[in-house]
Amino acid sequence: MKIKSKLIIYIIVTIMFMACTDNHNENTITHSNVNLINEKVDSLIKIMTLKEKIGQMNQYNGFWDVTGPVPNGGDAQKKYEHLKNGLVGSMLTVRGTKAVRAVQKIVVEESRLGIPLIIGFDVIHGYKTLSPIPLAEAASWDLEAIKKSAQVAAAEASASGINWTFAPMVDISRDARWGRVMEGSGEDPFLGSKIAAARVKGFQGDDLSAVNTIAACAKHFAAYGFSEAGKEYNTVDIGSSTLHNIALPPFKAAVDANVKTLMNAFNEYDGVPATGNKYLLRDILKDKWNFKGFVISDWASIKELVVWGYAKDNKDAAKMAALAGSDMDMESHIYISELEQLVKDGVISETIIDDAVSRILTVKFELGLFDDPYRYCDETREKEIVNNPKHLDAVLDMAKKSIVLLKNENQLLPLKKEGQNIALIGALANEKNSPLGSWRIASKDNTAVSVLEGMQNYKNNNLVYKKGANVFIGDVQFVNEIEINTTDKSEFKDAITVAKKADVVVMVLGEHGFQSGEARSRTNIDLPGVQQELLEAVYKVNKNIVLVLNNGRPLSINWADKHIPAILETWQLGTQAGNAVAQVLYGDYNPSGKLPMTFPRNVGQIPIYYNHKNTGRPVKDEGNPNLVFWSHYSDVENTPLYPFGYGLSYTTFEYDNLILNKKVFDIDEDVHISVNITNAGKVAGKEVAQLYIRDLVASITRPVKELKGFELIELQAGETKTVHFILNKDRLGFYNNQGEFIIEPGDFDVFVGGRSDKTLNTHFELK
Ligand code: BGC
Repeated sequence: MKIKSKLIIYIIVTIMFMACTDNHNENTITHSNVNLINEKVDSLIKIMTLKEKIGQMNQYNGFWDVTGPVPNGGDAQKKYEHLKNGLVGSMLTVRGTKAVRAVQKIVVEESRLGIPLIIGFDVIHGYKTLSPIPLAEAASWDLEAIKKSAQVAAAEASASGINWTFAPMVDISRDARWGRVMEGSGEDPFLGSKIAAARVKGFQGDDLSAVNTIAACAKHFAAYGFSEAGKEYNTVDIGSSTLHNIALPPFKAAVDANVKTLMNAFNEYDGVPATGNKYLLRDILKDKWNFKGFVISDWASIKELVVWGYAKDNKDAAKMAALAGSDMDMESHIYISELEQLVKDGVISETIIDDAVSRILTVKFELGLFDDPYRYCDETREKEIVNNPKHLDAVLDMAKKSIVLLKNENQLLPLKKEGQNIALIGALANEKNSPLGSWRIASKDNTAVSVLEGMQNYKNNNLVYKKGANVFIGDVQFVNEIEINTTDKSEFKDAITVAKKADVVVMVLGEHGFQSGEARSRTNIDLPGVQQELLEAVYKVNKNIVLVLNNGRPLSINWADKHIPAILETWQLGTQAGNAVAQVLYGDYNPSGKLPMTFPRNVGQIPIYYNHKNTGRPVKDEGNPNLVFWSHYSDVENTPLYPFGYGLSYTTFEYDNLILNKKVFDIDEDVHISVNITNAGKVAGKEVAQLYIRDLVASITRPVKELKGFELIELQAGETKTVHFILNKDRLGFYNNQGEFIIEPGDFDVFVGGRSDKTLNTHFELK
């Protein structure tokens, strides 16, 4: 019986496959092989039972040592039985060629139709060899480097049996309290869209069936980054204008880049949880954007529809999610238990199921899983590719590009390479785990190069390290078990002693890598524990301090900004962290990163972001300086500590000659902008030239500034380059409250500069 059924599927698939072999060799997905895949999917669906179809919509988490004995009893046995019976379409978190081969073997050899599993995993910023956290990568504004970083991640993950990553996270966020800002690209929809597309292209490549590419997943659809008060899993309450103009564009960019899957968000939008939100999933994503891939729920988010009070029980939840357009159930286990009866009762039409299944099967065909279910399970390739030393160069390059120089008074940086007494202080300076950041499940603990190790490569200085204080106590893997040391200052004195004798003190302070990420929201974004006190204590004896920040979110570092002469933002930079930091400290790499997210002066300013609205009362009444009735706080100024787009270099750049090709344009015409940028310093450097606009009057109020272009250029000392930008219709319009993209005539301001708050300005009119 089993052999007979395998033959059926084998015949269908082989006949179809033979017909498309030529196309496969071309390394691109052509229209004819898209049609062919559609035909294969249709033929397969015709021979599937309803139960088998629903099985494809079911995803389970890895559950037992899959290469060990068959589980006996409990949840694991249930999952095993379901695999055998063709009732599982995907597994997540199973990894390594041996384990993946083992689960794949169960479905391929034991289930009736032998439909291969798609194997998902959170490959967020690398697999074993780690790149910087995504927020850090965004600070590079270097789309090629970001794409390359995703390619490296895809190469290692695919060599390890994985063919689908739950990345990129493209959630825009304006709230540094939210722990997951480390996983995204910051606050801006334009930058976020460009990075979303770059990451999708990096993971998926030009040919999804190639063994070194994997399907991507843009998440979390939608507006998860707007969790109220930055509290994880909280409700979201944003209006239509913010949804369409801020939250959705990076998802649209990912869809336009052909992303194969999207993931639901845990939040609600307008009172409807995203997982059951037909407006988001069907009306916008699948109908308006014509998205052909499939949507996976977030972990258990289907059954959480009940907890939200949106569905009355599991059956109701399964119905809501399936009707809304969630195609695959991650770990709720309720599509598999409820959908069949719902179809039989006529509550859900089988066409809904067929649509979901055909989307899922299409991606499996595109991945080449039907040609060879074990194509990602080549042990030789795994040995060669995972942790390949070549990847170290790629992630080092990405890490250096992600560093942002926030302050550099009296050119304290770069450090002199010889004859210096350098005191290195801070528990994080000697950390090999924290720099790996959050979301690195497959990597090995303690495999990052620490800052101490990185600096030790520069041997002609006298480097002395002292921890100064233990900052974190306990098992930092689980944030609730981290105890922050707020009292023990017994080791301060050792740090002070070495600081006194040093020419320069380098202090590595900030958050541990596990203090950001999922479920790591914080209400206090100061330096954790006794670190602020340590900084002040050292400052008392030596003011020549370089503060090296480690963090997964903007921190509030007012005191440091006021007193410390040099500050380097180094986030969590992955496997090569310490080498990247050392090379920047010593000037072997000139930093060029720019902040993708505003740094507030204090937590009370949050949400604070550059592209805010003007309001009706933006400034103090000049004529009446005593007037208090304007938009401000009475205890802190309105500006942030460091604005979006800000970052220094070891050289300086001067902007001049901002020119438009005309002053008045027809609504269909492109606006051509040019500006001259000169490297006015003594060393070569890179600069991110940023173009912003303001639409002065519109039917929906527009932000005071919106990023609409950027260009990363490299200039030798003394060199001048002219940078050109084009503003076309896509960049001058906006979404109205019905979600329609419109462009309106009127006056526009144009701003160009190296940061969002200091720019050259000009103006044009659109007729
Ligand atoms: C996260 C997702 C992730 C999933 C699987 C969830 O808790 O929100 O982003 O992909 O778990 O690990």
